[in-house]
Formats: sequence, structure tokens, C-alpha cells
Amino acid sequence: MSLSERKIVVGVGGGIAAFKAVELVRELQRRNAIVRVMMTEAGARFVGPVTLAGLTAHPVVTDLWDPQYPGEAHVELSAWAEAIVIAPATANILARASFGMADDVVLATLLCSDCPVLFAPAMHPRMWSRKATHENITRLKGNGATFVGPVRGPLASGEEGMGRMSEPAEIADALTTLVARSGDLKGRTILVTAGPTVEDLDPVRFIGNRSTGRMGFAVAARAAARGAKVVLVAGPVTLETPPRVTRVDVRSALEMATVVSEHVRKADAVVMTAAVADYRAARVATEKLKKGGERLSIDLVQNPDILAGLGAARENGKPVLVGFAVETQDVAAGARKKLVDKKVDLIFANHATDGFGGDENEAILVDAAGDQPLPRMTKLALSDVILDRVRDLLTSR
Ligand code: CTP
Repeated sequence: MSLSERKIVVGVGGGIAAFKAVELVRELQRRNAIVRVMMTEAGARFVGPVTLAGLTAHPVVTDLWDPQYPGEAHVELSAWAEAIVIAPATANILARASFGMADDVVLATLLCSDCPVLFAPAMHPRMWSRKATHENITRLKGNGATFVGPVRGPLASGEEGMGRMSEPAEIADALTTLVARSGDLKGRTILVTAGPTVEDLDPVRFIGNRSTGRMGFAVAARAAARGAKVVLVAGPVTLETPPRVTRVDVRSALEMATVVSEHVRKADAVVMTAAVADYRAARVATEKLKKGGERLSIDLVQNPDILAGLGAARENGKPVLVGFAVETQDVAAGARKKLVDKKVDLIFANHATDGFGGDENEAILVDAAGDQPLPRMTKLALSDVILDRVRDLLTSR
């Protein structure tokens, strides 16, 4: 994989893994990246700035007040960078970065930057296991940062455990993927649906389902971060709208169908993560239903299948259509049937016990070419895998 002529800033933190930053810089250069290095004061104690300056043929910045920068070092570096990788990212750097601190050149450059950022954490397993560390990571991920590692293995202390920095080649791979994804959906419009639909029975009761909307919000967040114009049609959920996403709130399947049909003409791709109710009440009572006899039957009528409607109506494969399938048995077979019946390009399928609620999911991607089982990943990482497929489908059409 190549990083041809991409401008990469490597930020070196203060941990013993800093020695691997030298190899990382070499690896990035082997992939034809143009590399500049910045270090924290602690980082410069672990590995010599002279070594890294020699490798990059450029001064290494360790100081916000560096006289070699006529302007401000952090402003210049952040404007120059097409991506930043922090390796090693110590617990201290993660903590400071997650709170937007800017008290050294590495932190100030991060806060000033607008480009993708990759953290390669390295620390003692006890520091890695702390709740505070994970809260900091969650905050950074929420701001769009990407992580590689750490991994389990022998540590400088002679112990074994989780906290070892990923190998330079692995960090370079993660960075290459990150750079390839940056801005790759620019100029595209993506319509995403998310959450449940709620079908009212009377003014206080409804039929709903357990969808939280997290998967759809993750897809919307990543699509927007990758440059797409995103319209997110959301059922009733309690999630914050991701940055740069236009959100339209709906309640019922019929409302969702109407809003989708209004926006679909402008969409290059539609990702239907919503758990649309298949049925609604034949009549919605205007007054609260009163308790009656031992049993109660509710008359339900079928809702339109929004995705199948889009599949039936589309011409020349536009827009690209992605469906989601939640199954409780034989996930791949159920997904394949939906792929064919709804005439879509791709189905993301998971087992009902995996998908709901949490931040992670395990799924299979099913398309005409076959099944791709995916390892357990965060919903944000899964969103990137789906969007890679969407991008490839868009460029092939
Ligand atoms: N879907 C839709 N409109 C509906 C029902 C589902 O657009 N009325 C979409 C969902 O957003 C999802 C896909 O179809 O992308 C599959 O949804 P799922 O509920 O798993 O499939 P159903 O067709 O409803 O099949 P079943 O519930 O019988 O498994």
C-alpha cells in the first residue's frame, strides 16, 4: 500500500515504545509519504530528535516556541499535515488530547488540526485498564479519532500484558487506510435511516422495537467525516446528531417512507439501518383505550417496505442501496433472501443478540458475489467497512 506524496506528521510521546517511532517513520517513507516529526518533551527523552531529523531531513519540533518557525509551529504543522499519527500515544497524551488541552507542541497541533488523526497507544497494562483511560478514548473517538492497538505482549517492565504498541507496519497500514478514506465520499450524498419506527395505538401507547439507532448514527457520522453530504432520517432515539449531518426526525414507518421519498432523488446511496415496523394499527384511537375484557386483539395492517420500494423503482443501479437484516436464525440465508427480494446491492446482517444497544457488533456482509463475515468491531469501524463498499460501488457505476 502506498502513501504517495501524502504529508504525514508523526507525534512521538514519552514512552519506551518511542524507539519504534524511528522504524515507523522509515516505514511511512518506504510507502512514499513525506514525514515531519513533532515530539513531546518526554518523547525527546526516549529517542533523539537528531535521529528523526536526520531521517526526515527536516528539523523535529519539540517546542511550541521553536525559533525555526517564524509563525507558530502548531499552526504551520497542522496546516501542512494531511494526517497525524501519534505513536506512542501515552495515557497522558490521550487524557490531555481528550480534553482539548494544548500545553505542548504535540497537543496544540492536534487541537489545531482538521485532518484525520490516528493514535497508537502504548502504556503499562494497569494504565490501559483504567476507567479514566477508556473514558478518554471514548471521547477522542467521539471526536472522530482512530486507534490502532495496543496489543498484548511482552512489555519493557519484563511483564506480559495488554499495552504494547502495535508494530510500525501495522500502524502504517492503519494510517494508509485512514488516508484512503479521508474525503473519499466528497461530492456524494448519502441518505441514512436509523432507529426504530414507533406505531401509535392511542395517545399514550405504541408498538416499538429495541433498535437504539446507534448503527445508523455511526454510519452517518463516518459518511460525513469522509466528506459526504448526509441526510439522516431518525426514528425516536436519544442520540446526538453527528457533526455536519442534516437530521430529519420521524415517528412512524409511514412518516419515514414520506421523508425518504422526498430525499431519495438527490441521494447517490441509501443506507437503511432503521428497524422499520412491518405493521401499524389499522386505526389509531384518538382517546386513550380503556381496559376491557380478559383479552384484547389489535388489528394491524402492513406498512410499506421502504427499501423494497426503492429497489423496485431504481434505474441503472442508482442509488446504491444497502439494507440491514436482523435475524434470530440462519443469518446469512435470511440476508441473501432479502438481498434478492428487495433488489439491493448489499445487506449487512447480524444476529438479534449481537446488534442491539452496544457499541460493538458482529456481522456478515452479503452481496451478489458472496458472504464476507466480519470480525467483532465497533459500530464506527463497521460503518467504515460498509462505506468502503458503497464507495467502490459508486466508483464502478
Ligand atoms: N425495511 C424497510 N421497510 C420495512 C421493513 C424493513 O425499508 N417496512 C428495511 C430495513 O430498514 C432493513 C431491511 O428492510 O434495511 C430489512 O429489514 P428486516 O426487518 O430485517 O426485514 P423484513 O423485510 O421486515 O423481514 P422480516 O422482519 O420478516 O425478517
